[in-house]
Amino acid sequence: MKNHIPIMILAMAGPLLGQVSFEKDVWPVFEARCVECHRKPYEEDGRLKKPKAGLRLDGAWHIMRGSDDGPIVVAERLDASTLYHHITLPSDDDDIMPPKGAPLSKSQIQSIGNWILDGASFGDWKGATDGVVLEKAKDQYVPKHVVYFKSLENGLEALPESLSTQLSKVSSASIRRLHPESPLLDVGFFTTPNEIGDQQLAQLMGLREHVTKLSLARTGVTDKSVSLAGQFPHLSYLDLRQTSVTDSGLSHLSNLPHLVSLNLYGTDITDLGLKALMPCEKLRKLYLSGTRVTDAGVARLQRKLPELKIVR
Ligand code: HEC
Repeated sequence: MKNHIPIMILAMAGPLLGQVSFEKDVWPVFEARCVECHRKPYEEDGRLKKPKAGLRLDGAWHIMRGSDDGPIVVAERLDASTLYHHITLPSDDDDIMPPKGAPLSKSQIQSIGNWILDGASFGDWKGATDGVVLEKAKDQYVPKHVVYFKSLENGLEALPESLSTQLSKVSSASIRRLHPESPLLDVGFFTTPNEIGDQQLAQLMGLREHVTKLSLARTGVTDKSVSLAGQFPHLSYLDLRQTSVTDSGLSHLSNLPHLVSLNLYGTDITDLGLKALMPCEKLRKLYLSGTRVTDAGVARLQRKLPELKIVR
């Protein structure tokens, strides 16, 4: 399964046709198809309507802030950009965006994808700036994911930049800080995922305390790497999509105290694997499309973890 790369991504592996302009190429799509549900709170029939999922797509700052669940656009990374995931779902998927009307066209999706790959820059465009000031005020609203990562950062010293640079050379990993002041790391393998296997992750064990996001998507890793990832005490996001991970591999994740999001899209996971996830009480998002799980197995996990959002 792991060599099955979605067509959209193949199409974009070629040279980009010039720079994408957010204002010219992306904003018209958001404005016409998304903003209706993802804009600033407004009153209708005396009731306050809030943006869906806490996500506003009507201003640059709001787009980069993301939703109640965290960032939805990660510059240069389609696989980590929830927004891209939602617009490329199959048209009959409950979670496709927009949820009504025709799906976005191929060229609209491609513009958005290229914009993300190009670094998700807004140029001079700002869009709506209300709410930005509000969050800077004294009673600031701090998004849930920010609070969450703050709690993981407690007592953790940042590793020297030179170590990350060196390790990233040896293992071909992209190693980034979560944000410039955070000691936590976001690690992924993007340029040559096919050449990545268990050995590469083993080379990163020196970072185990610091890695909070790990993408092994579409790499050649096996359960061995999952057992290594199970030893990353601050791991919160793990992407195993289209890898050869098995049910027994997942049992290594049950001790991770902070795991929030797990992507198993396109793997051979069955209900047995779901059972192994039952102890993961913090888990809030689980991607299961293209796996071998059954409705009954999913329902059992959902009963055990009622706050978990399962995407199938
Ligand atoms: C008709 C209303 C509607 C429209 C139009 C709409 N959305 Fe949504 N969107 C929703 C709702 C409702 C949710 C929450 C779904 C849930 O949590 O189950 C959502 C959730 C999302 C999320 C997930 C946020 C998260 O972190 O879970 C993203 C990303 C998103 N929308 C992007 C878009 C984009 C991009 C467009 C336009 C192409 C769009 N939406 C158009 C209603 C809409």
